[in-house]
Order: sequence, then structure tokens, then C-alpha cells
Amino acid sequence: MIDSNEKGNHKPLRVAVLVSGSGSNLQVLIDAMQAGALPIEIVGVISNREDAYAITRAKDATIPVAVLSHVASGKRMGIKTFETHASAQLTTWQPDLIVLAGFMRVLSAEFIDNAPAPMINLHPALLPAYKGLDTYQRVIQAGDRHHGCSIHVVTAELDAGTVLTQALLEINHKDTANNLQTRVQKLEHQLLPWTILLLAKGVLSLNNEQLPNQQPTCMPTLPLKLYLDS
Ligand code: GRF
Repeated sequence: MIDSNEKGNHKPLRVAVLVSGSGSNLQVLIDAMQAGALPIEIVGVISNREDAYAITRAKDATIPVAVLSHVASGKRMGIKTFETHASAQLTTWQPDLIVLAGFMRVLSAEFIDNAPAPMINLHPALLPAYKGLDTYQRVIQAGDRHHGCSIHVVTAELDAGTVLTQALLEINHKDTANNLQTRVQKLEHQLLPWTILLLAKGVLSLNNEQLPNQQPTCMPTLPLKLYLDS
């Protein structure tokens, strides 16, 4: 008898996604999951904004959603309260991996250290350069030749965890901050599913631990880079 591992029928990686905005990256993951191109199950989506279009995308795909709005009844929800609710929700969903995809709140060290699964973040710059916000304006002002996006392990220090993968493009002299953002987003839509595939297959590992259902493998030199035209 062939067991399910030999047939490659591993259980999908349980992924929770945290969002704040449009959710175009979430949509890419939903599409890849539904097409059978990515061995994941999106077990839930947490949004800290009740007007995030990402919520509609998740609901359309019948994925459970928790809206933990940063403003409720005119009052701002403090980060501690958000984290208490988010922690409880994540514990219920039991993810193997937590993906911050356009999630715009800064999380505390306590939350990150006690999260029920490793966490990765998508950042629109070639880290360690340009941590923080407004990366497109800053690279143009600096006259840089390249820009792109990175996926890194989330640690207590903002945008500072190990960079796993990067996708980069050449900046044109006509690029504005707006169209550079559009170009970089196209890279993100390729980098995020590719990175999760590498994690799911065990080509990449987090914190020296394998995610469930992986065969141990040699770690490549990080970050892995994709040079793309967009
Ligand atoms: C992405 O461009 C990401 O780099 C930034 O927020 C954006 C999220 O886009 N942090 P979306 O919500 O996935 O469309």
C-alpha cells in the first residue's frame, strides 16, 4: 500500500492572513489555493479595518474573517486589545503560518513571540534598505536604480527579521512614486505565493524549524532573489 506521503498527498499548510487594505495579495493566494497551485488552506483572515476590501475578497471565498477594527464606536482600539482578540482568534484557527499581507499595525514583541505560528511580512522595499513607510518616494528621491519587495520573518524590531526572498526591478527615469508602486505590486503578487510554496515544500525554513509535512532540506543562501520585469 502506498501511504499518502509517498503519493505526495500532504495536508495543506494552514495559513492565516492579516490585512488592512485592498487585499490584492490575499486574492493572489486565494486564486492559487483554489487553482490547486499552492498547497495551502487559508484558515482565516484578520482585518484591522472594517472598510478593507480584503474582507469582501475573503468572504467571497468563504474564508472566515475577523474584523478587529482599530476604530469602533468612535473609539480607537489600542494595540493591546487588538492583540488579545487576534491572539484568541489565531489560537482557534491553529495556523501553521501567519502572513502579514499589507497589514499596517505595528505588533508588540510579546504578541510576535507568543504567536501560535511563525509570521512573515511582505515589505515594499529591498530590505535592509528602506524600512518603514513611503518607500517609493524615498527610492526615487535618492536616485536609486532598483526597487522591489521583500518577504521577511517578523521579529520585534520593525522590518528587521531575516529576509527570505526578494523580487527586484529596474527603476525607469520616468517612474513616479505611484507607478513604481503599481510595478512593485506586480512583483509582490509573484513573490508572495512563490515564497509560501518554498516554505510549504521545505525549501525554505523559518527559525530553523520545519513547517508541518515538509521533508528536511538544505537551506539555500538567503535572500533568494527574483529579477523581474514589470
Ligand atoms: C502592499 O503593496 C504591501 O507592500 C504594502 O501594502 C500593500 C498591500 O496591498 N505593505 P494589498 O492590500 O495586498 O492589495
